[in-house]
Amino acid sequence: MRQFQNILVTGGAGFIGSNFVRHVFSRPEFSGRVVVFDALTYAGNRHNLDDVAAAEGGRYEFVHADIRDAAAVGAAMEKFDVDCVVHFAAESHVDRSIREPAAFVETNVLGTLNLLQAARARGGAFKLFHHVSTDEVFGSLGPTGFFSETTPYAPHSPYSASKAGSDHLVRAFRDTYGLPVTITNCSNNYGPYQFPEKLVPLMVLNALEGKPLPVYGEGLNVRDWLHVEDHCAAIWTVMRRAAEGETYCVGGRCEMRNADVVARVCALVDALAPAPLPSGAPRSSLVVHVADRPGHDRRYAIDCSKLERDFGWKPAHDAESGFRETVLWYLSHAEWVDSVRTGAYREWIDRNYGDRR
Ligand code: NAD
Ligand code: DAU
Repeated sequence: MRQFQNILVTGGAGFIGSNFVRHVFSRPEFSGRVVVFDALTYAGNRHNLDDVAAAEGGRYEFVHADIRDAAAVGAAMEKFDVDCVVHFAAESHVDRSIREPAAFVETNVLGTLNLLQAARARGGAFKLFHHVSTDEVFGSLGPTGFFSETTPYAPHSPYSASKAGSDHLVRAFRDTYGLPVTITNCSNNYGPYQFPEKLVPLMVLNALEGKPLPVYGEGLNVRDWLHVEDHCAAIWTVMRRAAEGETYCVGGRCEMRNADVVARVCALVDALAPAPLPSGAPRSSLVVHVADRPGHDRRYAIDCSKLERDFGWKPAHDAESGFRETVLWYLSHAEWVDSVRTGAYREWIDRNYGDRR
C-alpha cells in the first residue's frame, strides 16, 4: 500500500475537498502533512477547515493560490516537498459553465496541465497524482444501463467537456512521461459543506426560507446520489491501493429522479425545521417547474462493481439517514450559510437569476 508524507490537496477549501481533508486526518495509517492549495473562489471557504487547522497544527498548511498560476503551483510543490497530489480544484457547476464557459477551460484544463507539469518536475520523489473526476464525462444514459470504467467519453456541457479534457491530459501524462496517476469518476455527492447553488442545498435552504423551488423541466432527470464521506473514503482507498494508471467509477447505487429528491427534501424540512411555513402549506407547494437546462443529461447511474470487487468498498451511508443528516446540518449551520451566500456568489446570482433564488 502506498504511504504519503506531503499531500497537496487542490480545492481543499471546497465541498468535497474539505470533507476529504477531514477524512484523511481521521485515518490512523496517515501520519504525514496535508497542504491545501486553493484560490478561494466563490465556492471555496477557508473556514470549512477551521476545525482541522485547530486540531492538526503543524500537519496542516494552507496555500492561497490559483492552479492557473504555474509558478505558484511549482513553488508550493517544492516548498512542501510534495509526494502526492489529490486534484479537486475545479469550476464545478454545470449551470455556470453554460453561461460562462471560459473559466472552466482555464481552471479545469489549463490548471490541471500546470499541476501535471509540476508533478512531473518532482521526478522520482513523486508517488501519485490522483485526479478527481465525474461521471458527467460519459454523457447521458437511457432508461437502462450503467456507466463503467469502459464507457466511452461523450460529454455534453462545457463543464463535462472540460473535465473530460483534464481526464485525457492525466492519462496522457502517464502514457507519455510515466507519471504515476489514478482517476476516479464519481456520481452526484450530497452532504455537509456543499455550496448552495447545487440541487440539494439549494432546495433545503429555499424550502426553509419559503422561497420557490426551481425544478428544471419536468424533474424526471435521474442522478445517482452518494454521501460525500463515502466518496472521500473511495478516493483514499484508490490512492493507497490501486495500481498506477487505474480508473475507478464511484457511485451510490441510489438513483433518484430530481422531482423525488426535491419531494424528499421538502418532507424532511417540514419535519425538522423549527417552524412551518406561515401559510401552513407543505414545502412541496413551493415547487415551480422552470425552463430546462440546455443539453440536460437525462440519466446518470454508476456501476461501481470494480471498486467493490477490488477493495471491498461500499457506502457507509444510506439515502434515508444521509439526506436527513444533511438537512439537519444545513439547519444547524445558519452562520455558514449566511457567510457563503454573500460576495461574488450573490452578485452572480443577482446578475443571472434576479431574485428567483
Ligand atoms: P466546489 O465548487 O465545492 O469546490 C471547488 C474548490 O476548488 C473551491 O474550494 C474553489 O475555491 C477551488 N478552486 C476553483 N478554481 C480554482 C483555481 N483556479 N485554483 C485553485 N482553486 C480553485 O466543488 P466540489 O463539488 O467540491 O467538487 C470538487 C471536485 O470533484 C471537482 O473536480 C468536481 O469536478 C469533482 N466532482 C464533484 C462531484 C459533486 O457531486 N460535487 C461529483 C464528482 C466529481
Ligand atoms: O454527476 C456528478 C456531477 O454532479 C458533478 O460532476 C458536478 O460537479 C456536480 O455539480 C453535479 O452536477 P449536476 O449538474 O448533476 O448537479 P446539480 O446539483 O447542479 O443538479 C442536479 C440535478 O438537478 C440536475 O439534473 C439539474 C437539476 N436541478 C439543479 C438545480 C441547481 C434543478 O432541477 N434545479 C436546480 O435549481
